[in-house]
Amino acid sequence: MAKFIINQTKELKGKIKISGAKNSALPIIAASLLTEGETVIEEVPNLSDVKTMCELVKVLGVKVKFIEESNMLVICADSITNTVAPYELVHKMRASFLLAGPLLARNGYAKIPLPGGCAIGTRPVDLHLKGLAALGAQINQGHGDVEVKAKRRLKGTKIYLDFPSVGATENILMAAVLAEGQTIIENAATEPEVVDLASYLISMGADVKGAGTDTIKINGVDKLKPTKYTIIPDRIEAGTFMAATAITGGDIVLENVVPDHLKPVSAKLREAGVEISEELTSIRVTSSGKLKAVDIKTHPYPGFPTDMQAQMTSVMSRAKGTSMIVETIFENRFMHVGELKRMGANIRIDGRSAVIEGKSKLMGTQVKATDLRAGAALIIAGLAAEGTTEVENIEHVDRGYVKIDEKLRALGVEIYRVE
Ligand code: UD1
Repeated sequence: MAKFIINQTKELKGKIKISGAKNSALPIIAASLLTEGETVIEEVPNLSDVKTMCELVKVLGVKVKFIEESNMLVICADSITNTVAPYELVHKMRASFLLAGPLLARNGYAKIPLPGGCAIGTRPVDLHLKGLAALGAQINQGHGDVEVKAKRRLKGTKIYLDFPSVGATENILMAAVLAEGQTIIENAATEPEVVDLASYLISMGADVKGAGTDTIKINGVDKLKPTKYTIIPDRIEAGTFMAATAITGGDIVLENVVPDHLKPVSAKLREAGVEISEELTSIRVTSSGKLKAVDIKTHPYPGFPTDMQAQMTSVMSRAKGTSMIVETIFENRFMHVGELKRMGANIRIDGRSAVIEGKSKLMGTQVKATDLRAGAALIIAGLAAEGTTEVENIEHVDRGYVKIDEKLRALGVEIYRVE
């Protein structure tokens, strides 16, 4: 198993380019099943999760070519020869369930192993299934699989989501674009990646209005056409580098970002004493490394993203004062805390809250990443820790960060990957 070895770093300095958003790429690849012909997707991040999604659609009979040098993906779903997603691939990545909506809309059938719980919570798919059922699908569950089938074309309807789930909104949206009549998703997720998926579908000829608000209206069309589309920058990757600069101090520029998507993260970092200046597609982050404690509560967008919670826990362990971080999205997302405590952080967990006594002296040691963002949090802590930190199980990190070690090295960090 691979690990990162990280030496304490006094400051980050330099400029890097942020990659395309993983959480846009995954549904967009799934949505490519909705049309025949050759679709081209640009700024696709070269990540293990993206490769898993490509493998999955290949198994379904779709032609996929990933041109890694130019981050371009060419997908041709002229024929879908298989509508059963294999467990070996699905269990690697929960986002595989995003194939349910497009397969149902295009072929009237999908069989997908139920994604189990994971390191951050139980993560059911009940809202996805309720939505697909409301569109007319029959749902059968058994032997660990979910079967969704529709004898005739799906029919548009009004769907109210009990919670603005990102994945459920995306699955329902992908199924509804080819349904008969109008579908209205109320209490929809408003995340930028949902908007990106909607924009992609619109570029394929779908009629979707209101993405980015809590009500999405979809008028079904008979057919979609292939398209060329560029994925938005990854706001969580950008936020992670901002958090890294906050903790060490330094002065960096992140290119290829949408500053608006980072508003909740920028607001909290500014409150903690970090300077952030925004241009149209770049952000400059300046930090003295002297930070104030701030309280954070995760919320659906435009609230503070749960995917930045772990990284901010590391940052707050070095801030002056006591901070409280409340996780409202996932029930078990403090797995990084035990490892941070081993590095010297003073953190108390009470239910869904973490109370962090700041100004802890962090010390390098061996730690294990339990999930993607927990891994990022440990790398950030390693930058500020005295001596050397070894972060193990970095396959989790590779799922969501393109060449994080190379990018950190470009900013002056001594970090090495050991296979
Ligand atoms: C997506 C992101 C993930 C991010 C999360 C929240 C992708 C590939 N992943 O995950 O990085 O952390 O949004 O911003 O885009 N829930 C249910 N029933 C459902 C669906 C969800 O109870 O049918 C619950 C989940 O257990 C969780 C909450 O709703 O507690 C939010 O989940 P959701 O927004 O669906 O997250 P994902 O789409 O899985």
